[in-house]
Amino acid sequence: MNIYKATEENIKKAASFILEGKTVVFPTETVYGLGADGYNPEACARIFEIKERPRFDPLILHADCAENARKLFSYVPEKALRLMQKFWPGPMTLVLPKADNISDIVTAGLKTVAVRVPRHPVALSLIKAAGRPVAAPSANKFGRLSPTTAIHVAEQLGDGPAIILDGGRTTVGVESTIITFYENKPVLLRAGGLAAEEIEEELGEKVMRPVISGDSLPSAPGCLKKHYAPVAEMKIIKRGDKTEKDKNTAYMAFSEPPEDCGEYGIVRILSAEKNLCEAAANLFYMLHELEKAGIKKIYAEEMPHTGLGLAIMDRLKRGSVK
Ligand code: TXA
Ligand code: MG
Repeated sequence: MNIYKATEENIKKAASFILEGKTVVFPTETVYGLGADGYNPEACARIFEIKERPRFDPLILHADCAENARKLFSYVPEKALRLMQKFWPGPMTLVLPKADNISDIVTAGLKTVAVRVPRHPVALSLIKAAGRPVAAPSANKFGRLSPTTAIHVAEQLGDGPAIILDGGRTTVGVESTIITFYENKPVLLRAGGLAAEEIEEELGEKVMRPVISGDSLPSAPGCLKKHYAPVAEMKIIKRGDKTEKDKNTAYMAFSEPPEDCGEYGIVRILSAEKNLCEAAANLFYMLHELEKAGIKKIYAEEMPHTGLGLAIMDRLKRGSVK
């Protein structure tokens, strides 16, 4: 297998692969990313091939600091500056008007570009060593579960990338929160690892949440109705709802095991402490476990719609679309 421990030496090697136009996998605090030179359109095209991702779905550029991130935008509103200062490095992506030198393959032809500064030390060292923005979507096949370990990546992408840097299990466990601005108001394009409430607190105003498709608010082309899907069928239920129970079914609870717990094939608890950050960190990891165990049907309990619960519910909803 193509997995190497994320030592200083291997990070350097990965950076040189990036400069040669190859793709490399690296850990971030959210999920593992499949990275390539953000200034090399051919290398970026390779990302789409390996992921089997449609070209209309733009990539996120990763920078090593806010100052370098700003160079990728042609215009940064005051409110975005405040968010950068407060939440970078961290699980927040900003979508703003792109600088002239950003290629169409990165933005899928849009006039805006998505940028974030990750918090993971391996990601930061890699971007620094490459000396350029690293384009990186989550390192999974398009539409499948996002990877929170190097093994998850290898299972889906095999030898596609030149190297997979293993930095252990990711801590946030769901993708970054994506924010843009519409008429100078903040808009949530994707719920993620930074709670929308924290952004609202910083800006002192509500973050708009586009829910109705076809409304005039901007949207993220990649946030499709069906996404983040385990191979098994998934159904969101409320506690106490009737379910099938046999060895092929699994129950994913928020904090307490269900009644008749022993009759399911597998039961997983996202956070016994009812901690939504812990639940988010466990979500994809546990879904990968159920997938690997060959579970056919997953019953996932509805989560609170606040804090990181919003990101979890978003993944559960998209994952349960047939
Ligand atoms: O946490 C994360 O964000 C991870 C790690 C690797 O950084 N990356 C990630 O990338 O989740 P990806 O490609 O799986 O998701 C990026 C999302 C897609 O839904 C895409 O449509 C949206 O960002 N996006 C990118 N550029 C955009 C733009 N200019 N306007 C609107 N949405 C954009
Ligand atoms: Mg993804």
